Amino acid sequence: MDELPLGTTGETVSPLCLGAMYFGSRTDPETSRAILDRYYEAGGRFLDTANIYATWVDGHDEPASEPFLGEWMADRGNRDEMFLATKVGFDYGDVPQSLDPDLIEREVEKSLDRLGTDYVDLLYAHVDDRETPLAETMAAFDRLVESGTVRHIGASNYHGWRLARANTLAEERGLTEFSCVQPRFSYLVPHRNADFAPQRPATDELVTYCDDHDLTMLPYSPLLQGCYGRDDRRIPEGYVTTENRLKMEAVQDIAERKDASGNQVALAWMTQRDPPTIPVVGYSSVEQLEENIAALDLELSDAEMERLNGIETLGGLQ
Ligand SMILES: NC(=O)c1ccc[n+]([C@@H]2O[C@H](COP(=O)([O-])OP(=O)(O)OC[C@H]3O[C@@H](n4cnc5c(N)ncnc54)[C@H](OP(=O)(O)O)[C@@H]3O)[C@@H](O)[C@H]2O)c1
Repeated sequence: MDELPLGTTGETVSPLCLGAMYFGSRTDPETSRAILDRYYEAGGRFLDTANIYATWVDGHDEPASEPFLGEWMADRGNRDEMFLATKVGFDYGDVPQSLDPDLIEREVEKSLDRLGTDYVDLLYAHVDDRETPLAETMAAFDRLVESGTVRHIGASNYHGWRLARANTLAEERGLTEFSCVQPRFSYLVPHRNADFAPQRPATDELVTYCDDHDLTMLPYSPLLQGCYGRDDRRIPEGYVTTENRLKMEAVQDIAERKDASGNQVALAWMTQRDPPTIPVVGYSSVEQLEENIAALDLELSDAEMERLNGIETLGGLQ
């Protein structure tokens, strides 16, 4: 896998980030390990988890993903090779939803303990906190970076204007800025009134801010649960629009012509965007992973990219 620059970090990372949300809970340990091993073997080095994963799954009140990754890295002796991202901010168990400085510090300590490491490469604010003063939150993240506990910070589920305000404030005070973002983002665009709260889809405003400031977007739910290539997955609620039906037709048509799957076309569209995004994809089988790794080699022509992008502007003035 050829690596891509990650935002303003000055580092490069795998072009496909492995979403480990259900490892050790919904995805059984054997399958989770097999997916991790295959990803590593294919050259993948970028893991995505969070302190809360996946405490909403029946029978898993305690976080399972972080300890699972910790065990796998210890077993394979590869912690220093991996680019490890985790998150803080959402509620679980008796932990409230907050980016209060003390809470951030406590939760990061717990994450390190579960992951069996003394640093994380990337820490996301998992969700914005409008109660805690932004300056206090950014100062808390900065202290973690200064101490070497966290190497870089990112923002997930932020409004564009809040992200801009956070980074402007950090810049003015000489604090660490968010260097990348993780929004809900896919080829299909949700309709205006769709509500995924507390998840926040990328808006045009967020995308242009990121593009202008060299912040990489790392879309989560990039395949909308695989709906681009599965008969058992329809266009999800919140995405049922005429435009998206046309988009689906274009994806299916291009997939057929290229002997690829619709999910591969959707992934190729994301990785070939200008600037490219780094999709954070989840899996429940090694076969899904194989298919998505192969999508990195699926080249969409300029005409195909134009066709896919053109649907957005149908009916607009050209
Ligand atoms: N920051 C946030 O707020 C946030 C929120 C959600 C997720 N995330 C991160 O993003 C990651 C991915 O999220 P997600 O699970 O919602 O994303 P997704 O990529 O939209 O969905 C993953 C699911 O799609 C299906 N799939 C994947 N590849 C496929 C293929 N080639 N063919 C057919 N089906 C395929 C599988 O479904 P089945 O398992 O049903 O077969 C897989 O579990 C998570 O692991 C997590 O790390 C972050």
